[in-house]
Amino acid sequence: MSVLTVPDAIEARRSVRKYTAAPVPDADLTRIITLAGRAPSAWNVQPWRFVAVRDPAVRAQLQQAAYGQPQVGAAPVVIVVYSDMLGAMEILPETTHPGMSEDSRAATVAQVRGIFGAQPDAAREGWGNAQSYLSVGFLLLAAQSLGYATSPMLGFDAAAVKTLLGIPAHATVPALVALGVAAEDGFPTHRLPVERTLRVV
Ligand SMILES: Cc1cc2nc3c(=O)[nH]c(=O)nc-3n(C[C@H](O)[C@H](O)[C@H](O)COP(=O)(O)O)c2cc1C
Repeated sequence: MSVLTVPDAIEARRSVRKYTAAPVPDADLTRIITLAGRAPSAWNVQPWRFVAVRDPAVRAQLQQAAYGQPQVGAAPVVIVVYSDMLGAMEILPETTHPGMSEDSRAATVAQVRGIFGAQPDAAREGWGNAQSYLSVGFLLLAAQSLGYATSPMLGFDAAAVKTLLGIPAHATVPALVALGVAAEDGFPTHRLPVERTLRVV
């Protein structure tokens, strides 16, 4: 399989809402999620977690929770990306970088616990939700690079999705991502020109 470079994957990616019946083998799924998890996060907390929904019966329920969006039913896999900061805080000693000295690692754990331990759930989880979008971006490009199409979605009932998949109530769900082989081109990319979004000073 040929692999697209990052610029080529960025240029080729479009939201795709129709999929062929071709499966996404476990090895590709694992590779895509591994690459998504290479996203950076502040203090390396990595609050993102993924549920890959293959089961057609569960996918049908997920589609209902996503207000019937057709790509949830059409794609062979839908990845539910969620963010669990409370869980991430429990394993901070594991995620702080082993290249740091023991003292620096302990100081980082204490600092992060100090900052987020004092926050209300909504603020802490909102912060983790923002971090997790980086992994969503990496996921979209990793999939495209390996020859798959995707459709990121925010149109769903998060409480229903969490109940369906046993995701902790405090977690946030930054996106559902339909994943599979494209059966359509998607809309041509339409973006503001860089002159409208970049200011160099
Ligand atoms: C966070 C996020 C949420 C989105 N939610 C939906 C959605 O619920 N349903 C949908 O059909 N498209 C959804 N989209 C797709 C956008 O409409 C699409 O990315 C945008 O129009 C640009 O088109 P492109 O992805 O083909 O470049 C979402 C995209 C993002 C990044």
